[in-house]
Amino acid sequence: MDIPVLTIDGPSGAGKGTVSLLVAQKLGWHYLDSGTIYRALALEITEKNVFEAGVADIVEVALAMDLVFECDEERLVILDGQDITDLLGLESTANMASKIAAIPEIRAALLQKQHYFKQPPGLVADGRDMGTVVFPEAAYKVFLTASASTRAERRHKQLKKKGIDANILQITADIEERDQRDRERQIAPLVFATDAIYIDSSNMSIEAVVEEVLSLVR
Ligand code: DC
Repeated sequence: MDIPVLTIDGPSGAGKGTVSLLVAQKLGWHYLDSGTIYRALALEITEKNVFEAGVADIVEVALAMDLVFECDEERLVILDGQDITDLLGLESTANMASKIAAIPEIRAALLQKQHYFKQPPGLVADGRDMGTVVFPEAAYKVFLTASASTRAERRHKQLKKKGIDANILQITADIEERDQRDRERQIAPLVFATDAIYIDSSNMSIEAVVEEVLSLVR
């Protein structure tokens, strides 16, 4: 049976996570948050202090990583038995994730973990290279973006809500640096898949974006 896949790619803060989760819930499909896999690995190598050790050691950690997504009342992410949900959102985690995501051997090691999510009745996959590299065969592809200032403001609000003290100028600088790295890396860069539909969410509500994405599938 051909399992339908909807890919939603774009830069951080475009609303991919919220939109993808809502769309997956409405369709009753599985949800892959690929950024979380990179973030979890970033946390693991920071804790184990292997970033300096080299690519082979990081790949070993990536392959051994025991990552579980729990989706009961709230979304929890468990790494090697430990709840890492709150740590995933830290800017330091995102920055390290963006660095290791530029290393080809690490992307290759994480590929199988991502393919595993393609299960019936369907999958909504959110990331940077879902429609171009991980699921190029996907029937439905979206590129979701927003202006850099809108994305920084959203991130600022999110962090404040979590009680994390954050400086908007620092967030903007971090987002721009990560975007540049994600767009310019040699392997699986953040690019618009030519067969994707383009949505700029800067002046749209979440509900409007969700509706537009759903109309593609329906
Ligand atoms: O979507 P996110 O902000 O959680 O992603 C964190 C970092 O992981 C991001 O800077 C780029 C990287 N990433 C990637 O390279 N490919 C993906 N499919 C998802 C995330």
